[in-house]
Amino acid sequence: MKLTITPQPTLQGKITLPGDKSISHRAALFAALAEGKSYFENFLVAGVTETMLHALSQLGVLWSLDETTLSITGAGLQPWRESDVPINCRNSGMTMRTLVGALVATNTAAVLDGSAGLRRRPMGRVVEPLIAMGASIETAENGCAPLCLAKMTGDRILSGLSYHLPVASAQVKTALLLAGLGAGGPTTLHEPGPSRDHTERILAQMGLDIEVRPGFVRLMPPKQPLSPLRLTIPGDFSSAAFLIVAALITPNSEIRLQGVGLNPTRTGLLDALIAMGGNIQVASKELRSGEPVGDLIVRSSQLTAVTINGDLVVRMIDEFPVFAVAAAHAEGLTIVQDAEELRFKETDRIQVLVEEFQKLNLQIESREDGFALQGGMPYQGGSLSARGDHRLGMALTVLGLGAHSAVIVHDAEIIAESFPEFVKVLQHLGAEITSR
Ligand code: S3P
Repeated sequence: MKLTITPQPTLQGKITLPGDKSISHRAALFAALAEGKSYFENFLVAGVTETMLHALSQLGVLWSLDETTLSITGAGLQPWRESDVPINCRNSGMTMRTLVGALVATNTAAVLDGSAGLRRRPMGRVVEPLIAMGASIETAENGCAPLCLAKMTGDRILSGLSYHLPVASAQVKTALLLAGLGAGGPTTLHEPGPSRDHTERILAQMGLDIEVRPGFVRLMPPKQPLSPLRLTIPGDFSSAAFLIVAALITPNSEIRLQGVGLNPTRTGLLDALIAMGGNIQVASKELRSGEPVGDLIVRSSQLTAVTINGDLVVRMIDEFPVFAVAAAHAEGLTIVQDAEELRFKETDRIQVLVEEFQKLNLQIESREDGFALQGGMPYQGGSLSARGDHRLGMALTVLGLGAHSAVIVHDAEIIAESFPEFVKVLQHLGAEITSR
């Protein structure tokens, strides 16, 4: 699919965002570990969550979806059904990394595999500590997928773990905490940065004994089955991010994004954009289903460059493609440091971002741990590619809104991985985009 974006619209209107990807994903998996029936409203129906749901079906977990309401019958902490064929995690690192933790907890044998892209992503960071807990997992020779999990037999039991995560990764933290549900003692994790804490919040709601302090989490193994959940999933801040930047960079715009998740471990982009001069107001903030939620009112703004580094990088780790669009519209030199993790996402996000932006003659250069971009200069349109990365595809579409002639984004079907309504939502706000 190819999107053609005609520049310089004005964006106006109200939008309610689809459910958060990270929370939807966890909701489905954690509910599968509970006993009884869980219900989730505003569940994200998109490529990534379909991957997780399909994997759960392969493992014998029963669920049904009625529009965006998911109900799921937990299979508990006892062994799940063994699949005759590998569990297909497609291109979802999140599915592979978190599912392996659940399979270790339930002592379920399985082979986890996925796309050629997923087979290149690092899995040692999750497999090694799981092996230290006593799990039996084999990887390909390079430490990547496929992952082959064998059942623990005899009187072997999983031990608790005390572990310093080498990188701030919520996926690794989640896998280890889930494995800890089946361990004989506490699981204690120390993190080098503030990765998203949805796992801790949901596990607490399931009745678990979990202690959380900055950079520290300790989970006690449950004495009874996990309670099922009933949650309304907040709108996805990471999807809202594209609309926020779109409204900031297009003249005479004002939009209201309703019911957006505002968990501070996710909203680093807001802090960055406000520091750049972005006119963004938070309204109607409240706690819903254990997560802060509110409305965002965003108006066109003159932006200036900033330097991003340290913990802020972790709090906006998925937002760099669209942050770069804001930087292209900000006067001065924007520098991103300490962001080498971007090289291990769906793509090497530093490399693909720089290559696509350079096609429009934007002044951007890659650095080992980030990039530098001289912003505030007009740019012409051109022909770009999403490169198999949903977030890059959406960021380039927003970049097109601020160009001086039409931008074409090829391979845009990948956007449906996390935000299938993206183009429709932008059109509703007034953008001129055609898809073919
Ligand atoms: C996620 C954590 C992040 C993020 C990913 C979703 C999560 O990955 O990039 O899109 O929901 O836990 P890492 O934990 O590997 O940084």
